[in-house]
Amino acid sequence: MLDVNKFNKIIAANWKLNASFDFIKGYFDQLNIDELKNNENCFIICPPSPYLNSCSKLMNPPVLLGAQNCSKYNDGAYTGEVSALMLAENQCKVCIIGHSERRQIFNETNEDIKLKAENLLKNDINPIICVGETLEEKEGGSKFDIIQNQITNSMPKNASKHNIIVAYEPIWAIGTGLTPSLEDISEIHSFIKKSIKGFDSYKVLYGGSVKSVNSEQIMKLKDVDGLLVGGASLNPHEFIKIMTS
Ligand code: PGA
Repeated sequence: MLDVNKFNKIIAANWKLNASFDFIKGYFDQLNIDELKNNENCFIICPPSPYLNSCSKLMNPPVLLGAQNCSKYNDGAYTGEVSALMLAENQCKVCIIGHSERRQIFNETNEDIKLKAENLLKNDINPIICVGETLEEKEGGSKFDIIQNQITNSMPKNASKHNIIVAYEPIWAIGTGLTPSLEDISEIHSFIKKSIKGFDSYKVLYGGSVKSVNSEQIMKLKDVDGLLVGGASLNPHEFIKIMTS
């Protein structure tokens, strides 16, 4: 399993429910990874599960393959599920879990996310555990409590700064073009590191409407260890700009 703590910055692409064989071919034809050589950062692309295998054949280090979700079950009568072992056998090194779209649309709980993380670690895959508040929670003043609760209750046994990545994604910023102020991003990242016991040196990514026009400023913030990028990662030229920002 990767020691995620050894990287300087971690930049991950979440393609969500977007891709086709034509899209993938065009994407990797245009993604010039030579621009990424000689640095200490980690780059991850997370396509939909059916395309993991074909993407793995087109991807080269320093870009790694990730998944967007895995089952909390390991095997059995669970129609439609994909296990952590299946992801590992398809060259996945990292897996996003607890994305707000999974929490909100598919009713995933912190307990589900913890089980998924345990399955991933057993299969040598590093989980990216997503947390973030809704607009109502932000406006109601409960964002710190919400984030602390999500982080502490979705961590697997044996979680460490070496095997887990945390991603802070305010739900109201995802896919909306809105981003928190740089001060607000710093405040939350420093809260996670300084106020949640044991998290001082975990890698914490920011996600939510990251584009090449704001990636550099966000990534420069002290407690921001990288980015989780949705929409903007679907354009290989835009994603290269973000990865090199
Ligand atoms: P966005 O998505 O960059 O399109 O806002 C981020 C995410 O959902 O991970």
